[in-house]
Amino acid sequence: MARAAASYVCQDCGASHRKWSGQCPSCGAWNAIVEEISETTPRGLGAAKGHAVATTALDGATQAIDRRTTGVGEFDRVTGGGLVPGAALLIGGDPGIGKSTLVLQIAAALATHGVGCLYVSGEEAVDQIRLRAERLGLTAAPVRLAAATNVRDILATLESTDAPDIAVIDSIQTMYVDTLESAPGTVSQVRASAQELIRLCKRRGVTLFLVGHVTKEGQIAGPRVLEHMVDTVLYFEGDRGHQFRILRSVKNRFGPSDEIGVFEMTDRGLIGVANPSELFLAARAGGSGDAGGSGNTDRGNDTVSGTSVFAGIEGTRPLLVEIQALVAPSPFATPRRTVVGWDGGRLAMVLAVLEARCGLSLAGQDVYLNVAGGLRIQEPAADLAVAAAIVSSRFDAPLPMDAVVFGEIGLSGEVRPVGRADARLKEAAKLGFQQAIMPKARRRSALDTAGLDCTELDRLADLIPLIEGAAADQAGPPRVAGSQA
Ligand code: TYD
Ligand code: MG
Repeated sequence: MARAAASYVCQDCGASHRKWSGQCPSCGAWNAIVEEISETTPRGLGAAKGHAVATTALDGATQAIDRRTTGVGEFDRVTGGGLVPGAALLIGGDPGIGKSTLVLQIAAALATHGVGCLYVSGEEAVDQIRLRAERLGLTAAPVRLAAATNVRDILATLESTDAPDIAVIDSIQTMYVDTLESAPGTVSQVRASAQELIRLCKRRGVTLFLVGHVTKEGQIAGPRVLEHMVDTVLYFEGDRGHQFRILRSVKNRFGPSDEIGVFEMTDRGLIGVANPSELFLAARAGGSGDAGGSGNTDRGNDTVSGTSVFAGIEGTRPLLVEIQALVAPSPFATPRRTVVGWDGGRLAMVLAVLEARCGLSLAGQDVYLNVAGGLRIQEPAADLAVAAAIVSSRFDAPLPMDAVVFGEIGLSGEVRPVGRADARLKEAAKLGFQQAIMPKARRRSALDTAGLDCTELDRLADLIPLIEGAAADQAGPPRVAGSQA
């Protein structure tokens, strides 16, 4: 029979230990281990025999997935074309990033089209949600609201005769199962609550949204535990100082992962952004969308050194973003390297390659790197754009305004080809860019340059004279000679 026993569970990685310690032996997190009372079952299954399960072949008939689009375009894109009945989605993000706003907008959009939606909030009172709905202009949508935290009550609601098609639980950290003694938000409560809710929703074909908070380490509390239990994991990220919010799918059993949706937070809620490149380059003086930009040969005017435009791919969609670098003499014995929006380890690698393979001395220099607009880039293809911004800042030599940069850098200093060059070039051409600095194409003849003047680099060392030369060549046009061979 089940009996209560104390175990010590790491709130970061979910590992359970037999005794308390300051540092989790599994993930190394400090002060994350908390005593939890958990139900333990006796070891083994006992003597009772089970029944053999029937097995079947891979090529049997399957039912086509019946997806329900929400009408929130960017959300549908991220989920791979809408919601699947019985699927469980986890939406994680920092507090205040807009998770509740997003799920309320989705629920309202669905409810307006006759889909039964239940919104259960454990954090806010019904009045607060009403106020938000008022602000969003969604009060007419027939969403059913409830403020509850006991999973038993929520299950009963979902079992009732007028069960909804969509249930939103905001947030899973406030829910509790009354047979467990641990406090809400602990790993065992989060795990047990999610398990109960997911099991019922799968059985009844209810699509379940679980909202989850992210801890300061960037993981959903009770993290791995939830990630493997749900079908789809979406992270809602963005900088609170910026308007843009990115919804990123990191796991999706019913669609592509790594897809992003871009939203703008306005005073009337989240609005999908159909053309994010324009948005991320909007602050660039005379840059994007200005097809006449190439005529702007006077670089002294509005071009600043230390910026480059990266032609990236996020999910299935090309996205142009500005990368900014500042290299400045350091007052410290150990120079600072500060990164916002990119991987610090990756920056260290690019700096090491610049020093070791290209002879660019960065000793005694602070390096600051920033991805404009609050976006977070994960692609290795950004290496070359980062290197270009750093070199540009180091020599105080602006890159041509109308150039995009992409390419991966290898440790031996080679510039490696990256996927989907065509799509990157096409997006750049669409936004009025005239040239690209990029890796040597594997099959040059097959590449559609979209009319861009492409400078293909084999080695990172070739980038430095390119940028330095452009600066020295004050009289000439800002563009770098293309190798259209
Ligand atoms: P919220 O959805 O409550 O965040 P979360 O559930 O992730 O904690 O969003 C809170 C923030 O969003 C708050 O700082 C105010 C802002 N906001 C707007 O800017 N416009 C709006 O229309 C709404 C509803 C919120
Ligand atoms: Mg909220």
